[in-house]
Amino acid sequence: MSKVDNFRLKFANDNKEYVPIMIGGMGVDISTSELALTAARLGGIGHISDSLITDVSDRKFDTTFVSDKRKQFRGSLNSPDKSLIQFNMIDIREATKLHIGKTMEAKKGDGLVFVNCMEKLTMNNTRDTLKERLNSALDYGIDGITLSAGLHLNSFAMMQENKRFHDAKLGIIVSSVRALRPFLQRAKRSNRMPDYIVVEGPLAGGHLGFGLDDWNQYRLQDIFIEVLNYLKEQHLEIPVIPAGGIFTGTDAANYLTDGAGAVQVATRFTVTEECGLPDKVKQEYFRAEEDDVEVNTTSPTGYPMRMLSYSPSIGGKMKPNCESLGYLLENGTCSYVEAYEKAKNASPDGKTFEVFEKTCLCTHMQLYQCYTCGHYVYRLKDTTNRLPDGTYQILTAEHVFKDYQFSTDNQILKPQLS
Ligand SMILES: Cc1cc2nc3c(=O)[nH]c(=O)nc-3n(C[C@H](O)[C@H](O)[C@H](O)COP(=O)(O)O)c2cc1C
Repeated sequence: MSKVDNFRLKFANDNKEYVPIMIGGMGVDISTSELALTAARLGGIGHISDSLITDVSDRKFDTTFVSDKRKQFRGSLNSPDKSLIQFNMIDIREATKLHIGKTMEAKKGDGLVFVNCMEKLTMNNTRDTLKERLNSALDYGIDGITLSAGLHLNSFAMMQENKRFHDAKLGIIVSSVRALRPFLQRAKRSNRMPDYIVVEGPLAGGHLGFGLDDWNQYRLQDIFIEVLNYLKEQHLEIPVIPAGGIFTGTDAANYLTDGAGAVQVATRFTVTEECGLPDKVKQEYFRAEEDDVEVNTTSPTGYPMRMLSYSPSIGGKMKPNCESLGYLLENGTCSYVEAYEKAKNASPDGKTFEVFEKTCLCTHMQLYQCYTCGHYVYRLKDTTNRLPDGTYQILTAEHVFKDYQFSTDNQILKPQLS
């Protein structure tokens, strides 16, 4: 009987073997250090995320990066022009030192901890901020970096001078051969191929690499095979890691049998103790029905995003908060700032309005009000016990990890009643 534990993940230039389960990055601090460290302890790979890293540092380590930045740029609080707002590179470095450095100090076991780096966080100065994010992550000891959403063709070149450029594992997330091809061509120039390629299909959580109108015409299985074939043609041996809708250990084992190096999974871990979502929000994930799951364009990144239709982030009227956060600012603006201004100006009193077009993603992610999820979120209720008070029993990350690793026949092992 096929099960994940029959397989191991191997990277080029590394003799070690890993349990082929990678927990995907879930910003903002939804995939916490505790979640990633559990995967590493069990011999697999976990991700933390560097999204809103200054805010994560403030919450975890009592720093004051966010309020200091807000004070510094308060001049634009009431203006749609956010061009003066800039991140301080020393703050990014210090926050990375705390978030990544402390996670790596705590790591035990044979697995690895990677950081998910969403390149679409343009931070009003993509080049300098991205360079700082990538290099500080390497400097503070991360095992690997997964580049996602908005792949920047220059990212490898930005790390080329770093002494860990060849020692840390570097991977990318793509949703097509079309996106993969130019990246590999560029990587050649840096004399360095990625160590792994995550192929994310249309059923994943977070942002999607497909159009709003055509995402449901794609299938992970097809894209995965296309990528495998492309790499073969190019004589490249790079582990390919499918992601998006892999819900049972058997789903995962089938991909491994077909040639995957590992699988990347996330949604099933959103309802674990170690996940950063507040318990109340975990219950919102459990209670989801299939009809509650939607893909919409409210994210200011321009990418479609999957979320629960009852996410408080939809149709809010949060005042833009770029002075504090501003991770999606590009050329002094963000499409939420524009949508907010438009809705405000169209309202007769300038007060009574809602912004449906876009959402203030930084703030709503910071407050865990954007319930982004994989398509199969509605099956989470089948993975646990319903308690007498009507709520669902929260799982442990170890339980879910081991269920992926050892289960067979599409079975899902429920936890013992607590
Ligand atoms: C709550 C949540 C947040 C996510 N955030 C990110 C993110 O910040 N960056 C990213 O590259 N992928 C993100 N993802 C995608 C996952 O890392 C993963 O690739 C995908 O969800 C796997 O599919 P599954 O959830 O069906 O297992 C997120 C997924 C979820 C469920």
